[in-house]
Amino acid sequence: MKKLRRIGILTAGGDCAGLNAVIRAVVKSGLRQHPAFEVVGILDGYAGLVEGRTRLLSENDVSGILPRGGTILGTSNRDNPFKYISAPGRKPKDRSQDAVATVRRLRLEGLLAVGGDGTLRCALELLKKGIPVIGIPKTIDNDLNGTDVTFGFDTALMVATEAIDRLHTTAESHHRVLICEVMGRYAGWIALRAGTAGGGDVILIPEIPYRIDSICQAITQREKRGRRFSIIVVAEGAKPLGGQMTTQGTYKEADKRPQLGGIGHTIARALEKQTGDETRVVILGHVQRGGTPTAHDRWLATHFGFKAIELAASQRWGNMVNLRGTQFSAIPIEQAVGTLHRVDPLGEEVRAARAVGTSFGDNIS
Ligand code: F6P
Repeated sequence: MKKLRRIGILTAGGDCAGLNAVIRAVVKSGLRQHPAFEVVGILDGYAGLVEGRTRLLSENDVSGILPRGGTILGTSNRDNPFKYISAPGRKPKDRSQDAVATVRRLRLEGLLAVGGDGTLRCALELLKKGIPVIGIPKTIDNDLNGTDVTFGFDTALMVATEAIDRLHTTAESHHRVLICEVMGRYAGWIALRAGTAGGGDVILIPEIPYRIDSICQAITQREKRGRRFSIIVVAEGAKPLGGQMTTQGTYKEADKRPQLGGIGHTIARALEKQTGDETRVVILGHVQRGGTPTAHDRWLATHFGFKAIELAASQRWGNMVNLRGTQFSAIPIEQAVGTLHRVDPLGEEVRAARAVGTSFGDNIS
């Protein structure tokens, strides 16, 4: 009888478009190319690994999920096996031995961990405990250093750009300032690219601290040119010069990470006071993570899934699949995590946006 090779897959961190596409690619390319492979889905990210909640995945299970948002496996961006909170209010406990036990009990040869920086940092710790892991990069924030792009990002961009296009209509008709707040945590990629694509007049990102005076000047200069409306695209992590990010408290998890959001309202109040212009705020929030993935994200996720199976088949554990330029490849997980990929404030993307008249809220003439 031929020996079975069992591979586990989990999706962790915030959901994003393309997760189902990657699960489908892993299952289909795994089972079709390697008849000895079995793929086990781990439910709800690292929580399922600690608690041993899993399901075997067949081709039929993943049929028809390519265009669906979310993840059929469930996910969690709170559960870390090394600081595991088993119930609200309980103290975090190291449950990594339970995660290791699940891998051993299921006789998994290794694990495919689909996630962003937090997920992959956990994967690295599991690797150090002897669990073979391969990383697959996903996040709408596009803030992973080990790859040029993560899947989920393009869909978030498309959603944000469409929103900015739609907001133009109201801004222009009512002569208002409209602020569109987008996600991205500590990186300004969504704001920068959607703001550029949508023709935002002001783009505010965490990498370039803003001054209210400078934003007001950009608005009044437009008004002097007869443009009686303005669109401001602000990243949730943007902050004023010398000030702090706006938060909604902290997450209920061991690390107590700040929950970002609300900067749009802070800026709106300050602008209305200074300019007298009617200013409204739209916070896009989870709309950016949901819904059907773009063609680019489906393609990227499918290729990452295929590549991860290729790595698993040749037992190249400890790596994360990535895309550099047009080349799909892999790098050690430890090189992919730790420092975030953020916007270069002096880089060409920012210069290109400035060149077409976009203000980053940092200059006063
Ligand atoms: O990392 C993805 C992301 O959507 C960030 O852009 C955002 O700050 C965070 O997750 C929100 O997470 P939650 O849905 O847990 O509040």
